[in-house]
Amino acid sequence: MVESASLDHVSGQQVLGAVARQAGIAPGDRDWADFEQRFNRHFPDLARLFHSLYGSRPDFQDQLTSLVLECARAWKDRPANLKVLDSEREANSDWFQSNRMLGGVCYVDRYATDLEGVRARIPYFKELGLTYLHLMPLFLAPEPLSDGGYAVSSYRVVNPRLGTMDQLRDLAAELRANGISLVVDFIFNHTSNEHEWARKAADGDPRYSDYYWIFPDRTMPDAFEQNVREIFPEDHPGSFVPLPDGRWVWATFHTFQWDLNYSNPEVFRAMAGEMLFLANQGIDILRMDAVAFIWKRLGTSCENLPEAHTLLRAFNAVCRLAAPSLLFKSEAIVHPDEVALYIDPAECQLSYNPLQMALIWEAMATRDVSLLAQALERRHSIPSGTSWVNYVRSHDDIGWTFADEDAAELGINGFDHRRFLNSFYVNRFPGSFAHGVPFQDNPRTGDCRISGTTASLCGLEDGTAEAIRRILLAHSIAFSTGGVPLLYLGDEVGQLNDYQYALEDGHEADSRWVHRPQFPAERYAQRNDPSTPEGAIFAGLRRMTAVRASAPELAGTRLIPFAANKRGVLGYQRPGEGTLILALANFSDQPQVISAETLSGFAAEALDVLSDAQVRIDQGFVLGPQDYVWLRVTAAAPGFGSPLS
Ligand code: GLC
Ligand code: GLC
Repeated sequence: MVESASLDHVSGQQVLGAVARQAGIAPGDRDWADFEQRFNRHFPDLARLFHSLYGSRPDFQDQLTSLVLECARAWKDRPANLKVLDSEREANSDWFQSNRMLGGVCYVDRYATDLEGVRARIPYFKELGLTYLHLMPLFLAPEPLSDGGYAVSSYRVVNPRLGTMDQLRDLAAELRANGISLVVDFIFNHTSNEHEWARKAADGDPRYSDYYWIFPDRTMPDAFEQNVREIFPEDHPGSFVPLPDGRWVWATFHTFQWDLNYSNPEVFRAMAGEMLFLANQGIDILRMDAVAFIWKRLGTSCENLPEAHTLLRAFNAVCRLAAPSLLFKSEAIVHPDEVALYIDPAECQLSYNPLQMALIWEAMATRDVSLLAQALERRHSIPSGTSWVNYVRSHDDIGWTFADEDAAELGINGFDHRRFLNSFYVNRFPGSFAHGVPFQDNPRTGDCRISGTTASLCGLEDGTAEAIRRILLAHSIAFSTGGVPLLYLGDEVGQLNDYQYALEDGHEADSRWVHRPQFPAERYAQRNDPSTPEGAIFAGLRRMTAVRASAPELAGTRLIPFAANKRGVLGYQRPGEGTLILALANFSDQPQVISAETLSGFAAEALDVLSDAQVRIDQGFVLGPQDYVWLRVTAAAPGFGSPLS
């Protein structure tokens, strides 16, 4: 074992000097002066993080110098308008916590044909109130199998079917001019098998073989597979796939998605370069794909290892140096304790909230809010300077990621409960309203997840008024618990499952395509007619967006639990200055009375902000089936209700 070289021997000034020479910087260069300032502020962090990953290597200092050189070059290339944005965002660092934030996500091709088509939809995005647009992976990828673009063949080339890098840059600028931040994926756990690095690795080039986890025979793969989970068991068993020359390469997801080897510092440096290239196109937020998987160690599950966090922090430090306004959103669909660990201003400022997502569906099926209420109480609070991204569903399957320990406290057996939820959502449970489809059904482990659009999971096919109410109820939670609400575009007009995927080349084996339909043009055409289901859903969501944007209580993520004292009714409070919003959501099929006593801490008069009506709550409050309210309340006067008052 090599003794780790002490960081004390690494002089920042020496690194900076070497970088200046290699980058050919002329003294007095203005960009360089800016960079030097950032370097002085952030280098110590970066060096410490990089050292904790790679300090034991004899070439540590050279590796660090090349990394800083990559940063310096990227800073030099960073367009002037983005540098202005960098300073604005530094001065207004909580911009993404605003109650005006509303996200939308779509596939470029399915929603708008190409990047030009996305540009043409900007007026609609403004009508909807979007301030954040996540375009699903749009880079060069193998055809027809690319996992929806999650197998990237080049991070610097846009898929020619969708457009060009110039168009992406123009789109980012035009979105920004319209108040919309652009979010794209940084798929950094793996590349496609057609990436130049992968091709060279497959050809036996030793330098690029070290970019991946490639082993000469089954010895190491067998050893690793003792402890790692199968993610796509329908695609291939285990986590390794054979190469034509008899070697084995790590592929956590599909056979054509090869995991990068971050124990090699050159991989970190190369990917930092790709990341900064994207940042310089005007991307505001990177969705950090599959963060749980980026570090591997024999004898562990190879998920959520401490080094995964160090890597993210090191990437984040690279941004502070060379693309300071860029933010990270963590995609960790894992145990809630682990999800929380990625959320930190120095790591990922934003994170999907997969627990809330899953439990919205859980409460909808059981008509019992206990797990969801418990999650709000103990798992909603996150560090200042960070935010949730709250969603009802995404392009992926729904997995039941609640903690078994949490469920056990409520007398629920996690394994059995997941089986119930799976059978409920694929409509094998008597009385179920849902039209979902199983995903990655694994008979060996009993594991299964669910595919389906929001509307289909709520049963809109059956044409019931309840289905519309369920759709709105689910979104009311994502829109008001705190964080950026994220809509899967098309869901705002109630798009249904699309079974055509079974006939689409490359999609037939992946049921997630059932909930990735083409742009639902006819449904959008109905959106302004409130007598249609489309219009009713659209109006409800527009109302929530508008009210949210004018309710300062709904900014940030602070939430105070509220016990509505009814099994089917979720309550929570969002505190503001002097007032607060009390949200109540009825997941049951019957009207529910919230008693006067339960509400006795509040003044008699409240404002129902969604309907803009004054309501009295001192005699209790009745909530219809699948109904929700946001009440602006004030505290009861001191002594209220006491015999002396
Ligand atoms: C993420 C994506 C998913 C993809 C996987 C592999 O989980 O959301 O769609 O299959 O990563 O990149
Ligand atoms: C994600 C998750 C996994 C999910 C998959 C894509 O990274 O960890 O649970 O199902 O990728 O669907």
